[in-house]
Amino acid sequence: MTLRTLASLGSLAGKRVIVRCDLNVPLKDGVITDDGRVRASLPTLNALLHQGARVVVCSHLGRPDGAPDPKYSLAPVAQRLSELLGAPVAFARDTVGPSAHEAVDALADGDIAVIENLRFNPGETAKDDSERQAFARELAVLGDALVSDGFGVVHRKQASVYDLAEILPSAAGLLIEKELEVLDRLTENPQRPYTVVLGGSKVSDKLGVIEHLLPRVDRLLVGGGMMFTFLKAEGHEVGKSLLEEDQLDRVRGYIATAKERGVELVLPTDAVVAASFSADAEHVVADADALEDTPFGAEGLGLDIGPRTSARFAEVIRGSETVFWNGPMGVFELAPFAAGTKAVAQALTEVAGLSVVGGGDSAAAVRQLGFADDRFGHISTGGGASLEFLEGKRLPGLEVLGWSQ
Ligand code: 3PG
Repeated sequence: MTLRTLASLGSLAGKRVIVRCDLNVPLKDGVITDDGRVRASLPTLNALLHQGARVVVCSHLGRPDGAPDPKYSLAPVAQRLSELLGAPVAFARDTVGPSAHEAVDALADGDIAVIENLRFNPGETAKDDSERQAFARELAVLGDALVSDGFGVVHRKQASVYDLAEILPSAAGLLIEKELEVLDRLTENPQRPYTVVLGGSKVSDKLGVIEHLLPRVDRLLVGGGMMFTFLKAEGHEVGKSLLEEDQLDRVRGYIATAKERGVELVLPTDAVVAASFSADAEHVVADADALEDTPFGAEGLGLDIGPRTSARFAEVIRGSETVFWNGPMGVFELAPFAAGTKAVAQALTEVAGLSVVGGGDSAAAVRQLGFADDRFGHISTGGGASLEFLEGKRLPGLEVLGWSQ
C-alpha cells in the first residue's frame, strides 16, 4: 500500500484543512530553544495557504495530563509560526471549544489559525478507543479534510494522529513524505559501509533498534550514557556512571551477536569522568578499562566519550557511505562534556554519502552546538518515530494514511 499524498485530496481552495503537525518544541521559560519542528512544518502550510485553503493547525506540546496547563500552551509556537510565515496566525485558547470554533469560523481563504494543545484533552491520548474516537469527532467538526504532517508522532495511536484520519478525507503532508523518502534509503539497500551511531542515556530505549539493526549494519558505534552498560558488560567498573544492571545480559548478547555476524561494534576506549554532575565539576579523561582509577574513584561519573574515542568514531563515520545517528555522546548541554557530541556532529557533516540525524535530542544538540541544518543530509523531526521506523515497527499514524513498510 502506498501513502496517500496531498494531491489525492484534490483542490483544497476554500476548504477548512486541519493540519496535524508535531510542534512539540523544547521551551525554556516560555522561549523556544529549537524551532526546527516549526520550520519543518512550513512547506506543507505554505502549499495549503497558497492554494487558498483555510488552515487549522493542531499539535501536542509536552505531556500535560489531559487538562489545560499554561506551561504547555502552544501560544509561543503560534507566535513563532507567524514570524516564520511572515503572516498573522490566529490562536485559539482551547482545542475544540468556543475559542477554536470562533477562530476557525473567522478564517478567510488563505488564512491560518493554531488551536491549543491537543493533549489538554484526555481523549487525545486515551487508551480506550471510544474515548479517543469521541474526541476525534469533536476535532473533525473543525475541518473538511486532514493533512497529517506530524512525523514525530506517527508512532502514537492518538486521536488526532489516527482516529481523525479515519473520519475525514486525509493524506500525508510534505514533511512526512520527505521523512519517509530519506528513512527508506536507510532500510532499502543502504549504500555501504552503513554505520549507525547510538547514544543517549538509556540502553532500554534502544533495545528494539539495536536488535533490528545488528543484522543490517556494518558498524555500530555506542556512546552516551548507554555506553557504560556496554563497558560494564565487557567487565569494566564504571563508578557512579549511568548503568542499567537489568540490561547487562542482553547487552552481552548483542556483543556476541555482533561478533558472530561480523558487525564492527565500536565501543569507547576512553571517557570524560567528573566528580559530579555540573558544568564546573572537576573532570579528567580516563581509559575505559580504568574508569575508577581517577581522583574520584568509585564515585566518578562518566559524562562524555573521551578524545581518543571521539577521534575513532569520527574516522569510522567519515569512512562510511550511509550514517544514521541518534542520541548525544555525552551531556552536551554542559560545555565540558560536549566535545564528543560535537566531534560526531562534525564527522557527519563530512560524510560523502547520506548522513541522517535522528530526532529530538540529537537535532537539538547539533543546532545548539552551532551546526547549520544544511550541513547534514537530513535532520529528522522524529526521535522515537524514526527509531521505530528503523526497527520495522508498525506506525499507526502512517498506516492510517495507506502506508505499509
Ligand atoms: C517527540 O518529541 O518524540 C514527539 O513529539 C512525540 O512526543 P511524545 O513522546 O510525548 O509522544
